[in-house]
Amino acid sequence: MPRFLFVVMVCLISQACLAEAKPLSEKTTYHVTSPDKAIVVSVTDDQGQLRYSVTRNNLQVIQPSLLGLRFAEQAGFDHDLKIVGSNQASVSSSWEQPWGERRVVRDNHNELSLKVERGQPKQVFNLRVRAFDDGVGFRYEVPEQKGLGNLAITEEITEFNMDENATVWWIPARKWNRYEYLYNKTSVDQMETAHTPVTMKLSNGVHVSLHEAALVNYSGMSIEHRRGANLVANLAPRADGALVKVSVPFNTPWRTIQIAPDAVGLINSDLILNLNEPNKMGDVSWFKPGKYIGIWWQQHIKDRTWGNDGIHAATTEATIEYMDFAAKHGFDGVLVEGWNIGWDGDWYNNGDVFSFTKTYDDFDIEKVAEHGRTVGVRLIGHHETSGNLTNYENQIDAAFDLYEENDVAIVKTGYVADAGKLKRVDEKGIVRYEFHDGQESIAHHQRVIKKAAEHKIAINAHEPVKDTGLRRTYPNWVSREGARGQEFNAWGVPPNGPNHVSNLVFTRMLSGPMDYTAGAFDLRPSERPPVTEQMGRHDKRSRIEHTLAKELSLYVGIYSPIQMAMDLPENYEARMDAFQFIKDVPADWDKSIALSGEVGEFLVIARQDRNSSDWYIGAHTNEKARTVSVKLDFLDAGTYEAQIYRDGSQADYETNPYDLVIEKRDVSAVDVLSFDLGRSGGAAVRLVKK
Ligand code: NOJ
Ligand code: CA
Repeated sequence: MPRFLFVVMVCLISQACLAEAKPLSEKTTYHVTSPDKAIVVSVTDDQGQLRYSVTRNNLQVIQPSLLGLRFAEQAGFDHDLKIVGSNQASVSSSWEQPWGERRVVRDNHNELSLKVERGQPKQVFNLRVRAFDDGVGFRYEVPEQKGLGNLAITEEITEFNMDENATVWWIPARKWNRYEYLYNKTSVDQMETAHTPVTMKLSNGVHVSLHEAALVNYSGMSIEHRRGANLVANLAPRADGALVKVSVPFNTPWRTIQIAPDAVGLINSDLILNLNEPNKMGDVSWFKPGKYIGIWWQQHIKDRTWGNDGIHAATTEATIEYMDFAAKHGFDGVLVEGWNIGWDGDWYNNGDVFSFTKTYDDFDIEKVAEHGRTVGVRLIGHHETSGNLTNYENQIDAAFDLYEENDVAIVKTGYVADAGKLKRVDEKGIVRYEFHDGQESIAHHQRVIKKAAEHKIAINAHEPVKDTGLRRTYPNWVSREGARGQEFNAWGVPPNGPNHVSNLVFTRMLSGPMDYTAGAFDLRPSERPPVTEQMGRHDKRSRIEHTLAKELSLYVGIYSPIQMAMDLPENYEARMDAFQFIKDVPADWDKSIALSGEVGEFLVIARQDRNSSDWYIGAHTNEKARTVSVKLDFLDAGTYEAQIYRDGSQADYETNPYDLVIEKRDVSAVDVLSFDLGRSGGAAVRLVKK
């Protein structure tokens, strides 16, 4: 065998190098190493194909995996490839989040940028790779050049060849219910095409999450299982043929591989945010993190209706009552759904008829806003589109004008429509049906975010595209759904079940904030007598399969800068002792530390309030009762009063979900708190500096 087959060239850190012209069969390998030197990414151009691999502490995380793109009309970046130049750089910096899980984010990484040339026809692209202590990101960058103008991408061939013995937590992609599925836990070869983040535990215990960062002007990437442990990027198709339409120059989103020695390391990682562009919106101090209540749950449990085809929920009087309750208990906002014309009948399939400015006769938006001003509470707006992007965009100026005039600072949007059924009328007047993570839907969200910012409005999107850290660049995109939230416990059969949030925090939550809407105090709403026979109730199997203490713990466990107390005021009035925790807990943090946990099993997390020296702890478990202990060594010196809301000794999500103990004790940084969590139980703690 010729000697040159074995030649491997390694470029040293900070050295720019140019490979000499040599036969395609001669491979060149480049490496980039994380600042702590544990993670090594290698890229090689063997036999005209580009491959990368990743190790952590010399153990394989990603086996050699193909890289490249294919186009409809031009030759693809998938053959005849050669690395012709490289650059290395290092960054060690930090930046501040205007709001978030932590104020200061460290960005410490080494970067390798490779210039890759295709021989015939001659064309170039760059592969940019960043190695952090908590994982890897890479993207393709296609510069302006002759011969490439508009491109239709037909395939991204990026592979992720994993450990064959990995365990994977995943939800299916391209299925009708978008991201709203219960998680599967399977071996890697049993995985189907899945939405990211996809979380894995390798056989050596290392945890990995595959996702993407900065998803703009592209289609969302799902992970397709081909065979064995061979996984491949799978882009959501556009309705008009290609997967993505771009023109040069363009960059793909970052393909991200978070890597941690244990499950909580994934939660403590800031890799996704670090791979997004800095804030492009400037001062966003007009967005205030906070808590809200809403005319919402009563619709889901069939006490009231959105439209006039039952008992209309969104009346002026009801909203004023909610505002008074909010003001009395320190909430900033009241969400009102069903105030605008379009809800009667089959609203799910009637996106064409939604008006975003015309109110039902019994809802006086000016009067409500005026009352809000007097009591210091704002309306939280709601725009359900039923997946009709064009109908919404046609009215968006007037819609946001109306809300701005009425002091609305946060709008919840909604895109209820089956996957692949977002309606769009294109430039030629042709009706297209797009995926929620397709390129056109992503472009729509960008337009909405920018338009909202002009009105100093923040957005909380339901049935959204998944989060990819864009809140760093557009900090008014404050929260979203994009998973099964509390609503499924009102009408889902089966409901979310005892282990769902233990899955969520290690999967969906790695992508960014979620409007999960915790705070259920009546855990069996379907057992309430029906308000009218005609409205009835949902199936009695729909229920919240948590203890009350676990519901409280989720205000710490599931991060969002806007947190809802979703239950009916009457249910809170009945348990003011437990409600005190929701009143106290903040929605904006200075620090967050995931302390212990296992995917799908349990989590213990501590967060420090951004506006005081108080700390909070949230602990929850799946269907298994367990004891968790929390070392308080994250506290500052001095004494804290621990205000503890925990499962009582009989607490059990099936037999005794309301067994809650509320107690106080003094603690300091040398103490360890221990909690016996019941089945699907939890604990929530406020630590107040004395
Ligand atoms: C689904 C959303 O997730 C829910 O919160 C909302 O109430 C309904 N759509 C109606 O817009
Ligand atoms: Ca939903």
